[in-house]
Amino acid sequence: MKINFSFLLILTGFCVYAQNRTISIRVNEPVADVQPTMYGVFFEDINFGADGGIYAELIKNRSFEFTKPLMGWKVEQKPFREGAVMVINRQEKEHSSNPRFLRVKLENTPKDALVMTNEGFRGMGIKQGLRYDFSMMYRTSASGIKMHIDLVNQSGQKIGGTVVTVQGGKDGWQKQEVSFNATAGEPKGKFSISIEGNGIIDLDMISLFPSDTWKGRPGGMRADMIQMLADMKPGFIRFPGGCIVEGFNLENRYQWKKTIGPLEDRELIINRWNIEFAHKPAPDYFQTFGLGFFEYFQLAEDIGAEPLPILNCGMACQFNSAEVTPLDQLDPFVQDALDLIEFANGDVNTTWGRKRAEMGHAAPFNLKFMGVGNENWGPQYLERLEVFKNAIRQKYPDFKIVGSSGTDPNGERFDLLNTSMRKMGIDLIDEHFYRKPSWFLENAQRYDSYPRTGSKIFAGEYAGHDERVPAGGPTKNNWRAAMAEAAFLTGVERNAEVVQLASYAPLFAHVDGWQWSPDLIWVDNLRVYGTPSYHVQKLFSLNKGTKVLPVQSNNDVLAGQDSLYASAVFDADRKEVIIKLVNAKPQPEAVNLNLEGIKLNAKEATVSVMANANDLLSNSLENPFAVVPVESSFPVKAKGTVYYSPGYSFSVIRIPVK
Ligand code: AHR
Repeated sequence: MKINFSFLLILTGFCVYAQNRTISIRVNEPVADVQPTMYGVFFEDINFGADGGIYAELIKNRSFEFTKPLMGWKVEQKPFREGAVMVINRQEKEHSSNPRFLRVKLENTPKDALVMTNEGFRGMGIKQGLRYDFSMMYRTSASGIKMHIDLVNQSGQKIGGTVVTVQGGKDGWQKQEVSFNATAGEPKGKFSISIEGNGIIDLDMISLFPSDTWKGRPGGMRADMIQMLADMKPGFIRFPGGCIVEGFNLENRYQWKKTIGPLEDRELIINRWNIEFAHKPAPDYFQTFGLGFFEYFQLAEDIGAEPLPILNCGMACQFNSAEVTPLDQLDPFVQDALDLIEFANGDVNTTWGRKRAEMGHAAPFNLKFMGVGNENWGPQYLERLEVFKNAIRQKYPDFKIVGSSGTDPNGERFDLLNTSMRKMGIDLIDEHFYRKPSWFLENAQRYDSYPRTGSKIFAGEYAGHDERVPAGGPTKNNWRAAMAEAAFLTGVERNAEVVQLASYAPLFAHVDGWQWSPDLIWVDNLRVYGTPSYHVQKLFSLNKGTKVLPVQSNNDVLAGQDSLYASAVFDADRKEVIIKLVNAKPQPEAVNLNLEGIKLNAKEATVSVMANANDLLSNSLENPFAVVPVESSFPVKAKGTVYYSPGYSFSVIRIPVK
């Protein structure tokens, strides 16, 4: 029998079409604006995210202020001379933020007889041919002292360095700077200084930066890591955390005023993640604040993100000391918040605006909102938030305040905070959810029932936490978790009227220095990769559109039927309808896409698809592109466009319209 293939194809196509689920998008009935801030990033100095991470300083413990003053340094002497190297604590008031320095006594010491080696943060990533910029503060009355400085590989071979003869004979501290090129690459290098000469020399702030920092700024940030953020085009950047804002006690809280101005005056403190987890101790984890609030604002400006600082509300971490500042002593905390607004926005004649200008940024940073407290809760939080709110509103009536809804997205704590903050007129409520992937799937409709008026939502910290593999290893950001986050985000997008900011947390982790997982972006000393969750976040951010469009299937939102989840936006700039579709089951599914109330402007749609039959797959340093978006196109028709969504997939479909 002769088969008419074209007839068969039409018939098959028709049958498939008739059985497919239809997804209708009413393009001419947008329901809400998508805020430009919608998808952002959450930065915290956790997992060696700042020191040893985006802050490109290679020397660990450059100012000898770690609890153990020589941590990170190894001092070798041949022969050994007692007292040749001493840690001095100057205990003078004017040096209270950086009291220690190193005193080295030389006695006609030859080259290589007294060598100090710094191990870096889990080693130093060295790039062949790159220029490295060394600097130090020193004081000596002796002349002719030579410093032989070298990069060293894991076999102990020198891979680039130089020699400087320091200028002695002057009173007080001086700065020595010198640059040199690396002659070879090395993922876990070290840095050594051999001191040659006679007399006493004092040393402090011993520093080494690669020259290929973000925007080439001296003493700046690791460009490959920041590029990952810039590529996301985030709407906002939240900083500096996280629990780091609270501190394990109030003494250990983040105080922004101590993080600006000259580097040598920024007082180092222990990083709370140093001791937070007994199973993941990080005794060498401190905050030098080389990356401080000025740098955060500058970073936000660089990547086009709104700055969103979070400040301590007068309470330390309630899982740790739970210290609370009495209400009648809250003024300095509130003043910090008011001064921060002046630091960011005040003109150069104001006290804090002038400090910003002195740091090199006369123009304001245009700060619009601020969080008061991180994961704080209870009546004591609400009392303090009220004081902050009144003071900020009085001075800056249009400034937006973000309040904490605690650690969990439901329960008694959440209910009290949620209800009270709405009554208080808090602008944005910060919700956190670290949950199993199944929670994200089940909660894709969370915001459908939220009030449309009053406080808006900042989904400030979320991540799908799947099983831990292997014992003691990091929880993987597998495809299952990322897919569930994508499904949840379709619900966030559908409710853009309510949810105005969203960020995954935490952002960065060093493979040899993490405390918390999963995380969005992983690095070692030279490499960086985005997890499947990163690519999901990025796809949402790059395709956020300008207006939310209603999406219906069988007269309902599509949020889990047949394991499908969908949302849609119109992008007024690109004149495109953008549909996000998650298929969270292993089987592929064909759907009919009906665009109502609009004419198509192309015969093809483009689509970015993340898909993998193995939903436990993760990306890694060795295999960074296991689950990433793949671009393609497919035909579209005014009526009856069929889209084949693969099993376990997330598709972002862009259809040009007139
Ligand atoms: O993102 C890691 C931590 O999770 C944050 O510091 C804190 O806010 C939350 O508990």
